[in-house]
Amino acid sequence: MSTYVHHDLDVSAAKVVASGAPLYPAVDRDSAAPAITLKPNTSPASQAEREKIFADPGFGRFFTDNVVRAVWTKADGWHQAELVSGAASAGGLSMNALHYGQSIFEGLKAYRHADGGIYTFRPEANALRFQRSAHRLALPPVPTDLFIGAIEALVRQDQAWVPTDPDQSLYLRPLEFGSEDALGVRPSTHVTYVLMASPVGAYFPQGVKPVSVWLSDEYVRAAPGGTGEAKCAGNYASSLIAQAEATENNCDQVVWIDAIERKYIEEMGGMNMFFVYGSGSDARLVTPKLTGTLLPGVTRDSVLTLARDLGYQAEEGTITVEQWRDGCASGEITETFACGTAAVITPVGRVDSKNSGAWNIADGGSGELTMKLRAALVDIQTGKATDTHNWLHRIL
Ligand code: COI
Repeated sequence: MSTYVHHDLDVSAAKVVASGAPLYPAVDRDSAAPAITLKPNTSPASQAEREKIFADPGFGRFFTDNVVRAVWTKADGWHQAELVSGAASAGGLSMNALHYGQSIFEGLKAYRHADGGIYTFRPEANALRFQRSAHRLALPPVPTDLFIGAIEALVRQDQAWVPTDPDQSLYLRPLEFGSEDALGVRPSTHVTYVLMASPVGAYFPQGVKPVSVWLSDEYVRAAPGGTGEAKCAGNYASSLIAQAEATENNCDQVVWIDAIERKYIEEMGGMNMFFVYGSGSDARLVTPKLTGTLLPGVTRDSVLTLARDLGYQAEEGTITVEQWRDGCASGEITETFACGTAAVITPVGRVDSKNSGAWNIADGGSGELTMKLRAALVDIQTGKATDTHNWLHRIL
């Protein structure tokens, strides 16, 4: 049985990478981070060019002037940390990540507040998850100080790219991959870490509107012992065909069911899910528990905390397809939503499937508690509400 099961995002557990002998020794978070040398782009985009992008950024279509890049080798550990112009180049067509998918990533955002300050949200939690993903993919962990130091350096350098529109933010994309040019199937001996940044608006083109979902009966996202709780490239590549099936069936997103019993709801696309039972002050939230096959979302963890702050019962549990369908029919389940960094909180309005029927969640609209939690979270992220949990990390 796998003992590599993480039930929360307890940052204090960062050094406990996993049980058993790790392929790479855990890096001392506080001492192994190299200093970042600044060699920024000498012809950055003009204000006019940025304004044109801010008018309609979409999601992940445009990138700032610079990236931060660092290299790991067995002999030197993490070194060559540099802030440099444009997309990083490392390795060639024979590099490990392209052939065998030894590649992981993260996603977090920087927000410009009304006081002029620029903040990120819980970057230590992303650093910790990145280290855990690295372990699963036999990559060396990026020290937290390098992870956060890269964010600070890049956001400072490219601060003009942090949008002022409160519905936009600067999406930060840390990426780590095997960059050795070699076709042997083994952990890469040359590894690259890159941080890039992209000004973004809403993740879903329709904005914050209820999405329709397709239950994936045929395809499975993750199985016990697999890579489900790691944020690795392959999980997203293997989801695309199921997402295409959802689209063919006029649904916006795919919902994943567990691989063994084929009945427990796990995730929606690349996002965690919440189910609301009851309404008003008696509403109770349930999110699928982290069994090792689900991504331990930072937004998921924040929503659990915020719901409890607001006085609601919020717990991790299980929910089957049948319970979801019957609960909606009886009115016991009043809302369903998905959450993640990119789309924040998105209501789910309708479900469709090959074998389990089709149904609406309540009237198919945006649930009251869904939108209340979304506002509570976004208000903290954008500086409109007090950050009682100390989640914001000020950069400027
Ligand atoms: C997120 O919610 O941040 C995600 O993981 C989606 C991302 C793959 C675009």
